[in-house]
Amino acid sequence: MSKGKLAKFAELKEMPNVFQNFNWHQPQLINHLGNEVDYKNQWHEQVFGNNNPIVLELGCGYGEYTVAMAQQMPNHNIIGIDIKGNRIHMGAQWLLENRVNNAIFVRTSIELLANYFGEQEISEIWLPFPDPFRRDSKSNRRLTSGYFINIYRQIMEPDGIVHLKTDSTLLYEYTLESIAENGCTLLEEHYDLYGSNPTNALLHVKTRYEKLNLSKADTIKYIKFKL
Ligand SMILES: C[S@@+](CC[C@H](N)C(=O)[O-])C[C@H]1O[C@@H](n2cnc3c(N)ncnc32)[C@H](O)[C@@H]1O
Repeated sequence: MSKGKLAKFAELKEMPNVFQNFNWHQPQLINHLGNEVDYKNQWHEQVFGNNNPIVLELGCGYGEYTVAMAQQMPNHNIIGIDIKGNRIHMGAQWLLENRVNNAIFVRTSIELLANYFGEQEISEIWLPFPDPFRRDSKSNRRLTSGYFINIYRQIMEPDGIVHLKTDSTLLYEYTLESIAENGCTLLEEHYDLYGSNPTNALLHVKTRYEKLNLSKADTIKYIKFKL
């Protein structure tokens, strides 16, 4: 592990806009004071101090979407979630330096979400460039599998919306099948997102992963569906 990573982990622990889980088997969140916190059904009152809809960015990496949504959607509360603390560090630091208060980060496994959020507490989920898990034997780990859709259903409003952006044709086709198989409603899909000239400014945000792979990908794909 590089020294840079260790320094980032130490700083992350002290950030008031970051909550971390350190043990898969004990899914508590720890705040910047080292205290265990439980905000299930209380994120609005206890953390954001308003009743604005809560949007999750899952597998947020460096948090580009969390930061962009916090700026472009001031009447929403945004939570970026990733297992990798050194990546979250960048977005969390940016929010602190720029005094943006409608977004935070949670470092945890997405599998544990139902421990932290209550029924209907989340209104929208963004999945920018999740790992496609190319092997069929790992298809359950794709963030649009039935396994994850079931987790999202435990925490989302009945009409909750999920956005997927990917460069993977495999994940794009798999997601369209998963939407049908799991009784979700397809709202919009583009095999070539940028070719469709999207008007939603958020769709033009380019994450670290997208920038790295843009030249290799034939097209960027986008799917929007309702649970
Ligand atoms: C391919 S990267 C994409 C990162 C970012 N969304 C982007 O576009 O640059 C996938 C990210 O998802 C995170 N991730 C994958 N599976 C996860 C899980 N089960 N729980 C939490 N984070 C996960 C990884 O740590 C990684 O940062």
